[in-house]
Amino acid sequence: MTRIFFASGLLLSLASAGVIQQRGHGHHDKWHVEVGARPYYLVDNMDAGALKSQLQKCENGPFKTSDFVISHRGAPLQFPEHTVQGLHAARRQGAGILECDVAFTKDKQLVCRHAQCDLHTTTNILNRTDLASKCTRPFTPAKDGKPVDAFCCTSDITEAEFKTLCGKMDGFNPNATTVQQYMDGTPYFRTDLYSTCGTLMTHNEYIKIVDSFGLGFTPELKTPQVKMPFNGYTQQQYAQDMIDAYKKAGIDPSRVWPQSFLPDDIFYWLEKEPKFGKQAVYLDERVDTPEGYANATASIPGLAKRGVRIMAPAFFALTKVDASGKIVPSEYAIATKKAGMDVITWSFERSGWLNKGGDYYYQYVSPVINNDGDMYTVLDVLVQQVGIKAIFSDWPATVTYYASCFGL
Ligand SMILES: *[C@@H]1O[C@H](CO)[C@@H](O)[C@H](O)[C@H]1NC(C)=O
Ligand SMILES: *[C@@H]1O[C@H](CO)[C@@H](O)[C@H](O)[C@H]1NC(C)=O
Ligand SMILES: *[C@@H]1O[C@H](CO)[C@@H](O)[C@H](O)[C@H]1NC(C)=O
Repeated sequence: MTRIFFASGLLLSLASAGVIQQRGHGHHDKWHVEVGARPYYLVDNMDAGALKSQLQKCENGPFKTSDFVISHRGAPLQFPEHTVQGLHAARRQGAGILECDVAFTKDKQLVCRHAQCDLHTTTNILNRTDLASKCTRPFTPAKDGKPVDAFCCTSDITEAEFKTLCGKMDGFNPNATTVQQYMDGTPYFRTDLYSTCGTLMTHNEYIKIVDSFGLGFTPELKTPQVKMPFNGYTQQQYAQDMIDAYKKAGIDPSRVWPQSFLPDDIFYWLEKEPKFGKQAVYLDERVDTPEGYANATASIPGLAKRGVRIMAPAFFALTKVDASGKIVPSEYAIATKKAGMDVITWSFERSGWLNKGGDYYYQYVSPVINNDGDMYTVLDVLVQQVGIKAIFSDWPATVTYYASCFGL
């Protein structure tokens, strides 16, 4: 697959218009992009109106790979997260950029996991007699009103041991008295259909697979859950190792969007690895409280001045409902636009049913959310009014349908 990159002169001349160049039109897919039945179900479920009509007109495609569509942890609405099978599903669904959350093992090797300490809910480690005892906190059954406990980190085991685990759907039963019950906790709106032993990946294996697809990379340096430095391993070395993996693999920095929740990681890359740093994505969770939201909004101009170019809060923080009940851009969204920053956001398709107003991701617009099709209404505001450059999705096909329809 060939990719057409914008000439650097053009990039420079467009710099003020935004950092991220949509390269979707440069994709010449060697594979048939397939969106499946779900987008049609969602469009049918929408309230009547112009957006629904427009989306209906696009029913026959063609559907194309787009950098607007970021695969979040693979395709974990149905596939075990951070597995080879999830990456393949995401590619088939049109994601142009694929994510690996990066964590380190006991022997300081980088692997793909959403959190350093989630092996107890995303793999079969508790059911592995040889490895379960190595967990920071091995399985303790729920008893006498005390909840179940287990805590297993990538840093508890070696890379070689990690590679022998099976990926499963993320979830657990808090009332479990046995490991079997504990592992049987997949949320109602997901499925165990593909949870038969997902193939785990090291960060280097992920790079190889995504490179073979010719697609983009978005590795996230996960905030460590052990005290740093870890056996002499510093946060800066960890941040450097993640970038070095792309340099060693000969990947052009324009294909890599490194992410972190920690501003110091972003500043580190800006200073030490500017070619990667200029595409660094600041995941902003300060917005989770009202005071933090106000602080985050106020900090935008200062961050822009320091060279941060892409902000990425959860998508709830980018919209609000106005007095007339319309979904409109939030103060945070307006501040990023004013500062000339780009916005990427997360994560679509993590919420299950929306008939009761949705969850965390819809908290500011819940009064006007009452059916699953409303997710396209929110996406449309994020694209057409907030001007997001890309969105992470647990089921890339849902976003691909929209992106292809609107030429993103
Ligand atoms: C756990 O291991 C046992 C024995 O190998 C197996 O029968 C069982 O299916 C496994 N359970 C899960 C949830 O993987
Ligand atoms: C766990 O037990 C509590 C209290 O009995 C109950 O409300 C809850 O639904 C149970 N959860 C699961 C997943 O079984
Ligand atoms: C917001 O900023 C103020 C002033 O700098 C600070 O005192 C406060 O702790 C911040 N709050 C949050 C939640 O970040």
